[in-house]
Amino acid sequence: MRLPWAMLPLMLTKRAFSGFIHGLPPQLYSANQGQTAMAEQEKLGILYGVGVGPGQPDLITLRAIRVLATVDVVLAASSSRNDYSLAQRIAAEHIPARTQLMRLEFPMTRQAAPLAEAWERNLERTAALLRAGKNAAFITLGDPLIYSTFGYLLAGIRKRYPRIRVTVVPGITSYQAAAAETGTVLCEDDQNLLLLSGVAGEAELRASLQSADNAVILKTYRNFAEIRACLERADLDKIFVSRLGLEGEIICRNLADAPDAPNYLSLILATKKRGRRTS
Ligand SMILES: C[S@@+](CC[C@H](N)C(=O)[O-])C[C@H]1O[C@@H](n2cnc3c(N)ncnc32)[C@H](O)[C@@H]1O
Repeated sequence: MRLPWAMLPLMLTKRAFSGFIHGLPPQLYSANQGQTAMAEQEKLGILYGVGVGPGQPDLITLRAIRVLATVDVVLAASSSRNDYSLAQRIAAEHIPARTQLMRLEFPMTRQAAPLAEAWERNLERTAALLRAGKNAAFITLGDPLIYSTFGYLLAGIRKRYPRIRVTVVPGITSYQAAAAETGTVLCEDDQNLLLLSGVAGEAELRASLQSADNAVILKTYRNFAEIRACLERADLDKIFVSRLGLEGEIICRNLADAPDAPNYLSLILATKKRGRRTS
């Protein structure tokens, strides 16, 4: 059947109007249709990096809870020697029973080859879920962008699968929670705050501390004797916090009282001496 030319403006208007119905201005409508068609060919899931806080169950954000309630899969890193994931334990009550849980195993080694192999395997396992259209949340202790395995996953996905959307849900960090618990001001006025990894070693730590008004040292478990010796000479207030909010919590205001071989979940706040405040 041939349509009369007179009907053409009416048909175009209807098409433009349906663009508005979908919430888009008409000039974007057809371009978006093309993208929708592409997305429909391969419906990609979203990767969420979700911080679950440092341990206490009420230090997880509402946004993290919302994401955990809706994703198809929750991914948790665990060591292949010990299949325990603390992040998973913290998040457990917010993960519905229907949600798939997947452990991404990493070997307890600093050797490059087995680590690279594990990375490749875990990146591809994650990508396979997302390419199958599933939304997945990688859960991480504290915040996902602070010394977290998520940083590597993010880099791998961005490089190899740039069309996959990644959304980060921030988490309360271990050192923010430690500062709150101990009433420690981390920085004020024009001071700086240096965030360090204790794995770096004594020389690097000493050099870094010279330019710091205040410092936070995470991962203090490995070189604790050197870190303690180095800090004892620095004119700062120091607080050692281990397993905050968890079984076996230790808080020491004198580093000499801290255990010689602390637990993996241990940090130090080293801040400018401020004296006691009266209010
Ligand atoms: C791989 S880093 C993860 C940091 C985490 N993404 C964050 O935002 O705090 C692990 C280090 O975080 C610190 N940490 C994490 N949870 C802690 C806790 N509950 N108590 C004390 N330190 C903790 C320790 O220094 C530990 O070695």
